[in-house]
Amino acid sequence: MTERNPVAFGDLRGWMKALDAAGELHRIDAEVDWNIELGTVARLAQGPGTGPALLFNNIRDYGANARCHQVFSGALASYRRVAMMLGLPPDTHPRELVKLGRTVLGGSIPPKIVRTGPVKQNIVKGGDIDLYEFPAPQWNRADGGRYFLTYGGVVTKDPDTNVMNVGVYRGMVASKNQIPILMWRAQHIGHHATAWQQAGHNEMPIAVAVGWEPSLDFVGGSPVPKGICEYDVVGAIRGAPVDLVKCETVDLYVPASAEIVIEGYLGLDPKGFLMEGPFAEFTGYVAGDASPKHVIRVTCITHRTDPILRGTIEGSMPGSFSENGVCSSIMRSATAWNVLDRAGVPGVTDVWCPPVQAGINTFVQIKQSYRGQAKQVANALWGSSAAHVRYKHVTVVDDDIDIHDYAAVDWAVAFRVNAGENDIVIMPSTFGAGLDPSTRRRDRNVHQFGTGKWNRVLIDATINLDYDPDPDLGGARFPPTVWPDQKDIDAARARWSELGLDGRKR
Ligand SMILES: Cc1cc2nc3c(=O)[nH]c(=O)nc-3n(C[C@H](O)[C@H](O)[C@H](O)COP(=O)(O)O)c2cc1C
Repeated sequence: MTERNPVAFGDLRGWMKALDAAGELHRIDAEVDWNIELGTVARLAQGPGTGPALLFNNIRDYGANARCHQVFSGALASYRRVAMMLGLPPDTHPRELVKLGRTVLGGSIPPKIVRTGPVKQNIVKGGDIDLYEFPAPQWNRADGGRYFLTYGGVVTKDPDTNVMNVGVYRGMVASKNQIPILMWRAQHIGHHATAWQQAGHNEMPIAVAVGWEPSLDFVGGSPVPKGICEYDVVGAIRGAPVDLVKCETVDLYVPASAEIVIEGYLGLDPKGFLMEGPFAEFTGYVAGDASPKHVIRVTCITHRTDPILRGTIEGSMPGSFSENGVCSSIMRSATAWNVLDRAGVPGVTDVWCPPVQAGINTFVQIKQSYRGQAKQVANALWGSSAAHVRYKHVTVVDDDIDIHDYAAVDWAVAFRVNAGENDIVIMPSTFGAGLDPSTRRRDRNVHQFGTGKWNRVLIDATINLDYDPDPDLGGARFPPTVWPDQKDIDAARARWSELGLDGRKR
């Protein structure tokens, strides 16, 4: 595995400087409307992992005198930039990123509390709070409103242990000082909400750090185990402790050099819920229905002078992969691989969740040593809680199939799958993602059922070891492929120039 050389960028600005030097940052100086146009440009520009990070620095209605006049997005929508964040060469293959992802959440360098920092340069409280002073985009025409929180680190704490959690949760502007957010009870923020409620509170302290080093966004959106504080993991990724300052109005800590921090209380009583959504979701569909949600009552905003609003366009589609899609493809693959290891499934040689759907379809490559191994893979994955919103379809292939190559997987599915031989297995009516539009609307109601509903499928595209070894094939179960023998390849290559094929693929 490639050696990591951890980088502490210092803050969002240090990260942008590094991106600039690497030719990965594009500044948009022409005026762009926060209302639909900015989101449209971001979605079109990101491409299939090929677009640059974007700094919008001329936003309609938010001139140079505005409290905030810049939006930054797209920084993690490319494997090159994810590699840079992790301190790896930019051309590191996603396969290597997955391998690293298997251990990267296990590192720990605890944060350091400091007295103050740039995020305290401006402190806005009480009646002065006005979220509309920030150019939060209406990212999509179909969204229910302007989303201030799309890629911020949402900080809460366990009331019993005081251990903080940082997660990424979307939040819409509902008024000058109210942000309803999408919070599932199964997420760690939901665990905290339940604990505060059981302790008799109807509000929970909350803070959101918007705009800092990329590792905060990456780790906040990754499945860090419960009870482990994301700041510790971020410290390990950047190879240095995160400097944290205390919030002004809540007992929580945020990075001292964050661009913007929203402080407040999250209402836990349904009577105070406000409508939130719909929102263009990670599935690539406008699938987050409008419904009443928990609301952040903002008590304070602290921010750097001339702050940069970090945001992201959510939802991957063919030809346009979101930051979430790219990062999740790594971490959902790494998590699945770890689940298989812990379950004792032998012979797993690679796991990949392509970024366009980031783990709904999962490819697992194995070196088979016995009959039924692919079924063990699916059972182990589906029995894990990591499968709650992922791994709906599992395709298992042999180790001669490169799972990073769609053509290779397609070929294996074409010629190694026989539905009449139990190569397709349906596991009906399991738990699943409430945002998947292929599930009937009724069954996506997580409030009614506690979870969504998925019928899962295993596609066993391995060579069937239940077939008898064929004496005509020297005991093999499948015939040889058409690919030439190595000696024939070598002989042909030796004549490549003579054949006038130089410069062509061989
Ligand atoms: C850009 C982005 C947006 C996300 N939005 C939400 C959201 O609105 N609600 C939610 O429950 N999870 C959302 N997630 C997923 C969570 O951040 C992720 O599951 C994370 O692991 C949750 O933190 P936790 O492990 O501390 O619970 C989002 C992730 C990303 C990267």
